[in-house]
This record gives sequence, structure tokens and C-alpha cells, in this order.
Amino acid sequence: MSKNPFVLSVIPPDAPFCNRVEELEQLTSYAIDGTNVVLFSPRRFGKTSLVKRVQANLAKQGMLVLYADFFGVTSVDDVAGKIARSVYTFIQRNESLMKKALRILTTFRPVFQPAEDGSFSISIELARPNLHGIDLLDKTLEDLGVFMEQAGPGKIHIVFDEFQEITELKEKRIESTLRSHIQFQQSSYFFVGSRRRILLEMFNEKNRPLFQSAQLYELKRLPHDDLVEYLVAQFKKGGKPCSEKNAQNISSISRQYPYYAQKLALNVYAVSGKVVQAKNITKALEIMIDNETYFYQATLQSLAPRQIALLRALAAEPSKTILSNNYIRKHDLGSIGGVQSAIKKLRQMDLVEVDTDSRYRTVDPIFSIWLQRL
Ligand SMILES: Nc1ncnc2c1ncn2[C@@H]1O[C@H](COP(=O)(O)OP(=O)(O)OP(=O)(O)O)[C@@H](O)[C@H]1O
Ligand SMILES: [Mg+2]
Repeated sequence: MSKNPFVLSVIPPDAPFCNRVEELEQLTSYAIDGTNVVLFSPRRFGKTSLVKRVQANLAKQGMLVLYADFFGVTSVDDVAGKIARSVYTFIQRNESLMKKALRILTTFRPVFQPAEDGSFSISIELARPNLHGIDLLDKTLEDLGVFMEQAGPGKIHIVFDEFQEITELKEKRIESTLRSHIQFQQSSYFFVGSRRRILLEMFNEKNRPLFQSAQLYELKRLPHDDLVEYLVAQFKKGGKPCSEKNAQNISSISRQYPYYAQKLALNVYAVSGKVVQAKNITKALEIMIDNETYFYQATLQSLAPRQIALLRALAAEPSKTILSNNYIRKHDLGSIGGVQSAIKKLRQMDLVEVDTDSRYRTVDPIFSIWLQRL
């Protein structure tokens, strides 16, 4: 039996990937030019998979590529530690760079643990016990700057994934500290994230330290035709052919949302016999919705009743005029003021967006189906 050809996790650079050809090219050239980029999209659109590919490209061309994921950071020390760790992780097999790093990066020491495959997993420990918080971050970035100079200016590319997480921390000087170091460096930084409003406010608002310090780059849905082609090819590879029509159906249900396209296809593959049939898609959709329920419930739990009411209304009926009497009455949304504050929160959380027709609508197509069934 063949293996299920669909994956739910970050796609490694050498695995089959749908399109993103132009994005790959543009982002790679930004990185080489030393341009900073804010890469944003809703959750699970393929940002991490894409930047991993960009970095694989750059590494082939001899650049040093650092990747730090800020998801779940709990303190400024944590942020600094992740940055230091990204350096040690990338250069672990390069003796001369490792020597340099050990000499120059004074704030953290690497701790190596051998993994089964002969590589090392790296953790870090604080090397300057009396340095903490913003001072620690400042010194770490300063050291990193020196390291960059000595490793070859302009040869370093740095990804800060889930960058918006730093706004969850109480320390408000993180942005200015970053800015003060980044602005003099020739390296290219990619700030990646899925809470679009929060992320963009950092770079678009005049009074914020990172204002206009990076090029904004939005990652869009996958193009329908390319997605259909990709799905057909992957089903074929897995030994269960899928017609173009059925693949189109999978693309439409998932609204070309990369994660859901993969997940729906993964379930379709699992429930199909020798060939994919239309009824397999119906069944797979139910399995997928069932499977996401826990996550959707948790999302609702973080919302107030008014926000839930508006979200459900938009799932059923996307609209330009959510503040009109008509819309409010029809969906029982209470007062105009209430709707105004609810929409603000829903957009902050990236649960609602404005589409190309200027209508408010839910971001997540499957959550939307689930909400309509409540
Ligand atoms: N170009 C692509 N072709 C096929 N599948 C893709 C593509 N890009 C992303 N995916 C799928 O989308 C899902 C999300 O990918 P990834 O984790 O890279 O996205 P992300 O935007 O970083 O997500 P998050 O917001 O959770 O960090 C994965 O299941 C992956 O398989
Ligand atoms: Mg990601």
C-alpha cells in the first residue's frame, strides 16, 4: 500500500509543494538584497514552509540562515535565548564559525545533546547570570551584530517566526531595542506572523519603533488551478487517482486555504478505495470538521457572547454593512456600539477579514461551516 501523500505539518524544502514560485523568487531576492520583510497571512497558509524554502535556497548560495520561532515566548530572556540558539543551531557543523560564535556571543552558551541521527539538539544556558530582560536582549543583539560583521556582512538571513508574540510580553522596549540594532545591519530580517493586525500595526504606525523598517509582503491563498493540479498529482502519487472535478471540489470547499486543502485531501485519501469518489469527499469533510471541533470550541471560549453572535452572523452572511439596522436586527446583534467593539476584537484576532469586495467575512472556511451548524 502507498503512503498517504498529504501532510499537515510544515512542508520540508525538498517535498512536493504547490506553486509559490513567484513568492519564492521574490523573497529570495529580498533576502539577498538585505531587505527586511514582514511576511503575513492568516494562520496555516504556508508561511513557515515557504520561509524554510527561501532559507534552503539561500543556504545553497552560501548564506547563513538563522531561524527563531517566537511562538509561546514567556519573557524577554526567552526572546534573547531563542535568537542565540538560532545561531548555534545553524552553525553546529561548521567548526570555524562555531569557534567565532563561542568567542563573540557572550550572553548564552550552547549545550549539545547528541541525537540518534548523529546531529545534535542544542539548548542554551545563560552565560551572564546578572544580565536580564531588555539588557540581555540588547547585549545579545549587539553580539549578534559583531558576529555578522565577522562572518561576512550581508551574508546572514534571519527569520523571526510568530513575531507578533513579542507584543504579548509586558516589556514595551523590545521593538525599540530591535530597531536600534537592525537599522545599522546589512542582513535581511524576515518578520513572520499570522496575527495580521497586530503585526502590521508594529510596522505601519508612525509612533512605533519599527515603523517602515521592512517591506510588507502578504501571502495569499493558493491559486485554484495550481491547487487542483497539485491535488491530482499527489493522489496519483499515492496510488489513488482523483479526477480533476473532485480535486476542484476539494479546492473550493477549502477555499484554497493550504492547510485545509491538505487536511481534506488527507482524509479523502484515507477514506477512499482505489479511486477517489465524490462521496469520499463528503465523508472526509465530516471527519475533518469533527476533528477541528475541539479547536473551534476553544476559540469560541475566548470570545464574549456578542463577538460570537457577530462571528456567526458573518459565517452565515458576509456583509459590507454590518452596522446597518437591517443587518443588526436580522442577526440580533444588539447595539451599533456593541457591533463596533466586537468587530474590532474579531479583526484583532484575525477571525474576520475584509475581502476583495470590501465585505467582512470569516477568515476560516471550515470554521465558518461549523459555526453555521451550531
Ligand atoms: N505551497 C503549499 N502546497 C501545499 N501545501 C501547503 C503549501 N503551503 C502550506 N501548505 C500546507 O499548509 C499547512 C500550513 O503550513 P505552514 O505551517 O507552513 O503554515 P503557517 O502559515 O506557517 O502556519 P501557522 O500560522 O500555524 O504558523 C501545512 O499543512 C502544509 O502542508
Ligand atoms: Mg508557521
